[in-house]
Amino acid sequence: MSGQQRFRDAMFSYAPTPLRVLVRGEGARVWDDQGTEYLDFLAGIAVNALGHAHPVFVEAVSRQAGRIAHVSNYFASEPQLELAERLKRLTGGDAVFFGNSGTEVIEAAIKVSRRTGRTRILTLEKSFHGRSTGALAITGKDSYRTPFEPLIPGPEFLPSTVEALENAIGPDVAALVLEPIKGEAGALDLPEGYLAAARALTAKHGALLILDEIQTGAGRTGDWFAFQRDGIVPDLLALAKGIGGGFPIGALVAFGPVKDLLQPGDHGTTFGGNPLATATANAVLGEIERADLVGNARAMGELIRAGLAALDHPAITDVSGRGLLVGIGLDGPHAGAVATRALELGLIVNAAAEDRIRLAPPLTITAADVDRFFDLFPQALAATESSDS
Ligand SMILES: Cc1ncc(COP(=O)(O)O)c(C=O)c1O
Repeated sequence: MSGQQRFRDAMFSYAPTPLRVLVRGEGARVWDDQGTEYLDFLAGIAVNALGHAHPVFVEAVSRQAGRIAHVSNYFASEPQLELAERLKRLTGGDAVFFGNSGTEVIEAAIKVSRRTGRTRILTLEKSFHGRSTGALAITGKDSYRTPFEPLIPGPEFLPSTVEALENAIGPDVAALVLEPIKGEAGALDLPEGYLAAARALTAKHGALLILDEIQTGAGRTGDWFAFQRDGIVPDLLALAKGIGGGFPIGALVAFGPVKDLLQPGDHGTTFGGNPLATATANAVLGEIERADLVGNARAMGELIRAGLAALDHPAITDVSGRGLLVGIGLDGPHAGAVATRALELGLIVNAAAEDRIRLAPPLTITAADVDRFFDLFPQALAATESSDS
């Protein structure tokens, strides 16, 4: 039976086409069960920061699995304490709560915001914060939300302008939640100065600023965290994806007194911060530091942007994002056709929106990987000529 058929018979919720069954990876390459090689410029949606089967990742998982994998939150563990201290150092935050995924730490952030005694939450149009019902309630995409309503009441979806925020915010707002770059929308940038204005306005009205860096964090944008470019400090920072490099983990970092809003017993999770996950994240973040993969994300991002500019392709309308989170705007709803064509050519890219391609390759990519991308991507762009959908 083909992998596609087995998927149809045994799984639900995800669309199976054009599914490939991936069996192995190395660096920025993956192979399917037919032996076909792909250049992976999506990295499990901004997750495999070190690429596939990186020796540091493999060693960390194996070593910790052979030592102690799970202890419950009745106990602390050395890797957990080390990761909390590491995240404090890297972010400038004051305390960390661990979860297992992005959506789960957004849930934690929503619960923290409830402890302000206020309930109004502001978020942005075209935002994405996760699929569990709280995170979904604040996700600015109607088609994801509406079939599951009623969700938690009250979130307001604002256009990404300072004016809209000024008009909406007031003394009853608990929190503003936003992504510094809207990843799932296709790496859409916020207007210059928006983050600083958001910080000033939330501070003025006593509302929390909750930054969702689940996709942009851990070096992806060419800074450790995207907010650091703007010289602001959030109240809460949600992290997941890249910090585990492929091992599921989420972290919510609290800055200043907000860490005292949740009291022991208010929130928890069985697996959050277990030794296996945190030892792996320590190794991944340690390797990002050691090999200066943040600098590499910046340099390779510049190379990709220069290459896209040089293509001067008539179907490309704009290039967005920062570092190795790249959005490529197309002049029509061709993204699905381009991504499918790319896959046939042996290149993995993502149709984040009908007219936007997203690239999020491993932070370890080299100039040779970028060259290979430019061997293939222009051929995939040819699909814009024949596709209406
Ligand atoms: C910005 C952002 N927030 C939240 C999430 C949800 O994370 P997870 O899929 O780990 O629940 C994602 C996942 O794509 C994301 O990109």
